[in-house]
Amino acid sequence: MPEILEIALPIMLASLLTYASLRAFRQKRAIVRWGLGSVATLLTVIITIASVLALAGLARLDAHGGPAASLTIAGAAEQVHRGHEIADGFCSGCHAPDDAVAGLAGGRDLGKHLPLPLGTFVAPNLTPTGPLAEWSDGDIFRAIRDDVDPGGRRLFIMSLTNASRLSDDDTKAVIAYLRSLRPDGRNTGATPDRFTLLGLVMLGAHMLPDPKPIPAGIVTAPPQAPTREFGEYILSYQDCRECHGKALSGGVPGQLPPLGPDLNVVKVWSFDQFAATMRTGVDPTGHELGKEMPWRPVGRMSDDELRATYEYLTHMPAS
Ligand code: HEC
Ligand code: HEC
Repeated sequence: MPEILEIALPIMLASLLTYASLRAFRQKRAIVRWGLGSVATLLTVIITIASVLALAGLARLDAHGGPAASLTIAGAAEQVHRGHEIADGFCSGCHAPDDAVAGLAGGRDLGKHLPLPLGTFVAPNLTPTGPLAEWSDGDIFRAIRDDVDPGGRRLFIMSLTNASRLSDDDTKAVIAYLRSLRPDGRNTGATPDRFTLLGLVMLGAHMLPDPKPIPAGIVTAPPQAPTREFGEYILSYQDCRECHGKALSGGVPGQLPPLGPDLNVVKVWSFDQFAATMRTGVDPTGHELGKEMPWRPVGRMSDDELRATYEYLTHMPAS
């Protein structure tokens, strides 16, 4: 529990202030008694509420997930290949050390992209240099599907992504790929999340987004092909809707920023124009996409995956 200090401090402060207000109310002069006494009491109440909320926040991080499945992944060449595709086109958006490159050596603090100082959320190194070297295949499956680490703590950022919607086979393919990697980069350490007091209070007060629901049972995927059906599946685990809105017709104020534009625009583009936009960051009108659009990882999808995504976008009902 790396946040123990963040919580211990306000609790100590609240105890000191309680003592101070009791002292103040014992003062002889009414003005001192009531002036100091009410300020100290008010502060005590505020800090006590903050401490209680922060403790509630800490409790919400305790995910108590079920046990990890016992699972050994064979790692056939095809599986490793599919895992590589998913890692490049999706996971590397956060787990690559640098926005511009593929790879999973981690180290970037996603907390820096949040609108408030909620904490540090370092994307861990997923190569054998990082903590996964000590994890079982079942532990990794549980982290991707249930967003829980082997110690039972909720993986906060992972729980806001749609990675849980990867099919069982694709999740195993990703694990096979992770197991095929060579050590790279530096060890990012054991507990990647560290909330600030503000983050814990907001978590305890239910002011942060809830974890995405976890699909129950076995998750299957349609056959991997450049089809609309496969595109729909890709969009179920990719996070396009988090920014571009539920119907992909544009983000709405009130969602987590950034707001993405209406993707119905793709309907007038050819496939080559769509692929070029995702791979160069420049759309057919010559507009350069800002950094908020993760076009680099999306552009690292395979040709078939991009084609499937295009088929889905150009056939979705207009809204
Ligand atoms: C939006 C950014 C983002 C995406 C996309 C993402 N991750 Fe993560 N991941 C994180 C962060 C940040 C953490 C640290 C814990 C947390 O806050 O969830 C993490 C933690 C993990 C962990 C736990 C490792 C540990 O040491 O605790 C695993 C395993 C993992 N991710 C695998 C994946 C895989 C596989 C994918 C793609 C299928 C993926 N992640 C996609 C950001 C992301
Ligand atoms: C983190 C938020 C975010 C995610 C996730 C995201 N986008 Fe975007 N996207 C944006 C923003 C913001 C823009 C506008 C960028 C600009 O114009 O500078 C954008 C722009 C685009 C454009 C260009 C539109 C135009 O008219 O030029 C396309 C196409 C697009 N996104 C497709 C996708 C697809 C497909 C996915 C999922 C695979 C996706 N985006 C995921 C935020 C996001």
